[in-house]
Amino acid sequence: MIKAFVFDAYGTLFDVQSVADVTEQAFPGHGEIITQIWRMKQLEYSWLRSLMDDYRDFWTVTREALTYTLDVLGLSPTATLFDDIAEAYNRLAPYPDAVAALGGLSGVHRAILSNGSPQMLDALVGGSALRDLIETTISVDEKRAFKPDPRAYELVEERLGVKPHEVIFVSSNGFDIAGAKRFGYRVARIARLPQAALAQEVAEEMTGALRPVTFYKALRTQEEALGYAPDFTVSSLTDLSRLAVAA
Ligand code: 2OP
Repeated sequence: MIKAFVFDAYGTLFDVQSVADVTEQAFPGHGEIITQIWRMKQLEYSWLRSLMDDYRDFWTVTREALTYTLDVLGLSPTATLFDDIAEAYNRLAPYPDAVAALGGLSGVHRAILSNGSPQMLDALVGGSALRDLIETTISVDEKRAFKPDPRAYELVEERLGVKPHEVIFVSSNGFDIAGAKRFGYRVARIARLPQAALAQEVAEEMTGALRPVTFYKALRTQEEALGYAPDFTVSSLTDLSRLAVAA
C-alpha cells in the first residue's frame, strides 16, 4: 500500500529554467547560456563534492556553480548582482501542474526530499503556492550526502516512518530516478519532454547550432541508461493520483 508520495524539488516541482529572466536581465543576451551552464555545473559540483568527500551544502554548490559559469563566460558581476542572481534559485516558479497534482493526492504523506539546503528549501517552498500542500520538506543536508547517494534516500523512512516499497518517489531528473530506484523506491518519472519530441528538436537545430537549452534537455531531461528504469512514466504531475491505486 502506498503511504507517501515523495517529490524531488528542482526540476520536478519547481522549474529550474525560471531563473532565465533574472540571468537575462543581469547580462542581456547571455541569459540562456548562463541558465544552462549554471544548472549543469550545479549538479556536477554536487556529484564532484560527493566523490571528493568534501561536502558543502547546496547553497554553496549553487554559488560555486554560478561563479564558474560567469567566469567561463567572461562576465564580471558586482557582489550585489551576483547575490541577486544566486537568489533566483530560491524563487523558482512551481510547474503549472504542481498545485493541482498535490491537491489531488489525499490520504497519503506528501513530502519533498531535496538536495537543497534547509534555508533554500524554506525560502523556495515557503514562498510558493505549494507551501500548504507539502507536509514535510526534507533536506539531504543532515546526512551531508547528495542524491543519488543512498544515505540521502534513507531520510524518508527516518522522517516519515514509511518503508521504501510504501513510497512513490517522483522525479524528472534522470540521475535521481536511477538513484531512487536503486535504493528501492517505486519511482514515477515525470517525462515532460517525450524522447521523440527531443529528437525532433535536435534534428531541426542540427542544421545550425544547437541551442544551449536543447543541449541541456538532451543531457538532463531523459531517462538514464544505467539499468534502473522507473516503475511509472507519466507526462504530468497531475497523472500521479491514479498511480497510488495502480501501485
Ligand atoms: C533536488 O531537488 C537537485 O533536483 C535536485 O534534490
